[in-house]
Amino acid sequence: MTRPKIFVTRRIPEEGLHLLEAACTVDLWPEDRPPSREALLARVRGVEGILSMLTDRIDAAVMDAAGPQLKVISNYAVGYDNIDIPAATARGIPVGHTPGVLTETTADFAFALLMAAARRLIEADAFVRAGRWKTWEPQRLLGVDVYGSTLGLIGLGRIGRAVARRALGFGMRVLYHDLAVPPEAAPERCTPADLDTLLRQADFISLHVPLTPKTRHLIDAAAFAKMKPSAVLVNTARGPVVDPQALYDALSKRRIFAAALDVTEPEPIPADSPLLQLDNLVIAPHIGSASRATRGKMARMAAENLLAGLRGEPLPHRVEG
Ligand code: DGY
Repeated sequence: MTRPKIFVTRRIPEEGLHLLEAACTVDLWPEDRPPSREALLARVRGVEGILSMLTDRIDAAVMDAAGPQLKVISNYAVGYDNIDIPAATARGIPVGHTPGVLTETTADFAFALLMAAARRLIEADAFVRAGRWKTWEPQRLLGVDVYGSTLGLIGLGRIGRAVARRALGFGMRVLYHDLAVPPEAAPERCTPADLDTLLRQADFISLHVPLTPKTRHLIDAAAFAKMKPSAVLVNTARGPVVDPQALYDALSKRRIFAAALDVTEPEPIPADSPLLQLDNLVIAPHIGSASRATRGKMARMAAENLLAGLRGEPLPHRVEG
């Protein structure tokens, strides 16, 4: 029997790769950078499966370049805003993703960003390394308290809930805004709030919504204007949920205390972005799920989704079209 040909757009951990190599003819993109658009269109030609990253735009053109034998697309991420789901549905191509396995790891990282921004950890580290620690100072590097403060979660899915659990352990009051979670379904000690109330009352605002036309630039100049001057914004969701110009204005004019980002618009953030000049911004290169164990589980899950699709079976974790 001939082995199905698949294209894997980046080297994923062995936990997934060896499953694929055991069953398929794998064309593995060898570089650290994603394939260019041209390379992607060329490499998918004739494949039955595509294992994609969040950096690959998988739209109708890519599906059509692959050809009618394309049976499955499996995204190595829980988010799938890089894939045109209606186009896949129209072509009868199931799309897989990796929910659940990265929840706690990403929530850990969101909390790490929150703490780092609140207590100015990155600035403090730079201060010491620059040889500026001369004595104990009563007013040096003053931050804001986490304990006893209010966390506003925008989006209360798996990751939002996992962040809420951490926040409750830190003695925070938790507000959330998520129309899909009515008050009667709210987790214990999590209080629903409309967006306006949340923005006005929260000391920390953490974003946990997918990127959709409705959430693009949800946090804009008007949203920043409602926040407390002591507020800290944390984004581990998707960069374009925050308007970068409005963020720059809010941070540079000290309209809010700080922001901590794992995701940006665009991604990667250009090295000359004015945001990178600000000391009240903590930033990371989209590593929320980046623990060895979790990336291994994601690889296995993405491979299992892909293999199920190749066999014509239901994907264990399929995006609803
Ligand atoms: C995802 O899975 O969507 C994250 O952004 C990366 O792990």
